[in-house]
Amino acid sequence: MQTSISPPDTPMTVRLIVNEEPITVDVLPQAVLLDVLREQLQLGGTKKGCDHGQCGACTVHVDGRAMNACLRLAVMCEGQSITTIEGLARKGKLHPVQEAFLVHDAYQCGYCSPGQIMSAVALLEDPNAATDDAAIREAMSGNLCRCGAYRNIQAAIADARRHLESQASREGDHL
Ligand code: FES
Ligand code: FES
Repeated sequence: MQTSISPPDTPMTVRLIVNEEPITVDVLPQAVLLDVLREQLQLGGTKKGCDHGQCGACTVHVDGRAMNACLRLAVMCEGQSITTIEGLARKGKLHPVQEAFLVHDAYQCGYCSPGQIMSAVALLEDPNAATDDAAIREAMSGNLCRCGAYRNIQAAIADARRHLESQASREGDHL
């Protein structure tokens, strides 16, 4: 039986839904999602920090779950829905977590902010996740901030959590 093996520089076509838009993109088999987003799709909001799964700067949502885009091969994302920081705002309105980061000055250089925000949104939108202060600290421990803005980041996420809780309760009242 003859087996044909593609050389590593043969691109493969992958279908993705990126920020709610279906796209097809030709990627090398070894290309990671982070590089495809930044270099092929020009979505530079997702940052490259360590490139080794250690810093969280590259966090995106894959089918609603926060993941390090530097650790995920793009070809593994066939048919999946990817949300980046560019796709978080809705109808021109920032997500409450983005708003809270602005209100609380939860950044200095801002390099880690997209990853911090994407992790926080995934946490606060997960109905099964605990979101007390200790749980937030634990869930955010994979997102490093070299500027040490942790105190304000924590405050921003706690504030966004209260906002989302009160929004959910208002919506519940109208059912
Ligand atoms: S760049 Fe992906 S975890 Fe650091
Ligand atoms: S704000 Fe600079 S790394 Fe976090």
